[in-house]
Amino acid sequence: MKVLSFGSLNFDYVYNTNHFVLPKETIIANDYHENFGGKGLNQSIALAKAGMEVYHAGRVGKDGQSFFDYLNEYNVNTKYLYKDENVRTGHAIIEVNEGQNRIICYGGGNQKIDHKQIDEVLANFEKGDILLVQNEISSMSYLINKAHEMGMKIAFNCAPITKEILTYPLEYIDIFIVNEVEAKGISECDSDNIDDIIKALQERYQNKEIVLTVGEQGSYYICGDVIKHQEAFKVNVVDTTAAGDTFTGYFLASYMNEHDVDKALLLASKASSITVQGMGAAKSIPFYKDLI
Ligand code: RIB
Repeated sequence: MKVLSFGSLNFDYVYNTNHFVLPKETIIANDYHENFGGKGLNQSIALAKAGMEVYHAGRVGKDGQSFFDYLNEYNVNTKYLYKDENVRTGHAIIEVNEGQNRIICYGGGNQKIDHKQIDEVLANFEKGDILLVQNEISSMSYLINKAHEMGMKIAFNCAPITKEILTYPLEYIDIFIVNEVEAKGISECDSDNIDDIIKALQERYQNKEIVLTVGEQGSYYICGDVIKHQEAFKVNVVDTTAAGDTFTGYFLASYMNEHDVDKALLLASKASSITVQGMGAAKSIPFYKDLI
C-alpha cells in the first residue's frame, strides 16, 4: 500500500500582530517569518514525521526548488512534484494574533494542476493505495473520480471549505477530515451546536468515516451510529497554523497502520497540541518520537 498526498505547497509569509488589521487601517507587524507551508505540504510532512512513507504530488514554479529540498529532508518522496517554469509558486499571507490566524492564499502552481498531471501521477499507483487531498488545488473532481475508478482509498480534508466542494463527487470519499466550519459546509447544517452538526453529518454521509475536530472541545470519529470522542490537550497556544494538518497526517498514519480509532485520535490530538505551541506551519509539526 502506497500513500499519495496530492496537494498545495506555499511560501508562508507570517506577520505577528497586536490585532487583526481592520478595513482602512495600516499596522506595523511585531515580527515576520517566512516558512514552508501549504496544507498539502504540511500534511505530507506530518505523515512523514509520523513514520509513513509518502509521495507528494503538486506543482511549484521556477522559484520553488527549495520545496524539493525541504520535503526530501523529511523523507517525503518528490518524484511527482512538478516544477513549472510558467507559474509562480503558491503563497500565503498569514496574520497571527494571540494564537489565532487569518490566511489569504495565492494559488500559483497549486491552481495549475491539470488532468495531464493527474493521469501521469496516478498511473504509478494502484487499487488499495491511499490518496490524501485537501481543497487548495485545481481539478479536484477529476482527481477524485480518477482515484476512485482505480480503486484507491480517498481521504479528503475539506479545507478550505468552498461552495464548489458540494459539486465534487463526495460519494467516492472514504474518510472526511473536517473542523466544525467545514463539517457545517459539507452537511449544509445551519446550527452551531456540535450535536446538530454530528447528526447532519450522520444523515448525509451514512456509510462514511468522518473525523471532526472542534478545537478546545476535542475531536470526534463518526461512522454511522458509532461516535467516539477524544478530549483536547490543554496547552499554551502560540500559533494554530497547521494544527489541523498535523491532526490529519497523524490520524491517517496511525489509523492506516493500526486500524485503532481511539489510538489514532489520541495520537493526532497529542501531535496537534504540540504544533500549536510553536510558530509556523510544517516546522512546528512534531516527530513521532516526541509524542511517546
Ligand atoms: O493549514 C495551514 C496552511 O494553510 C498554511 O501553511 C498556508 O500555506 C495555508 O495553505
